[in-house]
Amino acid sequence: MKCLVTGAAGFIGSSLCDELLRRGSEVVGIDAFIPYYPRRIKESNLLTARDHRAFQFVEGDLVDVDLAALLDGIEVVFHLAAQAGVRSSWERDFDIYVRDNVLATQRLLEACRLAKPRRLVYASSSSIYGNAPMLPVIEDTCGRPVSPYGVTKLAAEHLCDLYWEAFGIPTVSVRYFTVYGPRQRPDMAFHRFIRGAITREPITIYGDGSQSRDFTYVADAVAATIAAASHGQPGRKYNIGGGAIWTVRDILGAIAKLVGLELDVRHLGASPGDVRDTAANTTRAHEELSYSPATDVELGLAQEMHWIRNSLESGVLELRAAEQ
Ligand code: NAD
Ligand code: UGA
Repeated sequence: MKCLVTGAAGFIGSSLCDELLRRGSEVVGIDAFIPYYPRRIKESNLLTARDHRAFQFVEGDLVDVDLAALLDGIEVVFHLAAQAGVRSSWERDFDIYVRDNVLATQRLLEACRLAKPRRLVYASSSSIYGNAPMLPVIEDTCGRPVSPYGVTKLAAEHLCDLYWEAFGIPTVSVRYFTVYGPRQRPDMAFHRFIRGAITREPITIYGDGSQSRDFTYVADAVAATIAAASHGQPGRKYNIGGGAIWTVRDILGAIAKLVGLELDVRHLGASPGDVRDTAANTTRAHEELSYSPATDVELGLAQEMHWIRNSLESGVLELRAAEQ
């Protein structure tokens, strides 16, 4: 299989590239190295893939790159490129969210009208639900995002539906629930908490820490994404959750246990745009994609901690917390 991975230098995109290559696919990866977090980290994410003969990397922006050339011979498109991050999507930076999440998706879908890939898998998000009226949430629940980021992820999902209905481009959306593990973005909770625990810097909790998430290990999210390309039905959405619900407070307890230290925790007010609780009903993914999350949070946390320690030692992550 020859596939294109957009956002290939990012946290999940680079992990997806590695797994596709391991399974024998030919992979073209594209990334624009948008400055949300340092290029140094993204270059390090790409090291394994770049070593592989079947990997080709294109540095480029989906909004203005020659997409016809990029899609030539591609059977499956995995569309992960985006401006991620819930809490920074207010105010002036919303421009970036509209451009990289909505416009970039529309450009890619237009190019697919000619290129006709066998599948386009879109990396959607639990944030499209907002505060869902019933948990665990099922895919048919009406999306009511509570952050501007969620609005752009839902808009792009709607675009995927439109191009399936109007032009037969077989799009499938996987709705990831708070993904963690090695290479996790520096703005995300586990990354910030573990780094704080290792470097003994203060850790910030937004709100009282009783908010909860269906945290999903990155290898599980990647396996589901690949399964969606072969078994996902066009026009369908699939919840991809980790299967165990943890509060932020309990996660900090588990990290304190791992490092064997008391953490220096400070509280700020709840962050606007943050969903209170998430929980995925994954019956559909289980039945149609044979999805079954394999990594529990204690093990996944230890894996991420190992990666953060190594990255701090090698200088991929800087000791000072500025890049968070
Ligand atoms: P990430 O920021 O690590 O990766 C996204 C990559 O896309 C970045 O490397 C960025 O440079 C690239 N990019 C952005 N705009 C681009 C453009 N116009 N052209 C080319 N490249 C561009 O984020 P991530 O956490 O790996 O998320 C990957 C995808 O999964 C995103 O679509 C995100 O919305 C979605 N998602 C992530 C999570 C999560 O918990 N990490 C949860 C739900 C959904
Ligand atoms: C994550 C990703 O960042 C989004 O890109 C993604 O779309 C979303 O998951 C999703 O599931 O759709 P979020 O759930 O906010 O968003 O993930 P984290 O950044 O890991 O935050 C988890 C919780 O920890 C939130 O309640 C947040 O307020 C809290 N948190 C985060 C803190 O208390 N302190 C911090 O320093 C960081």
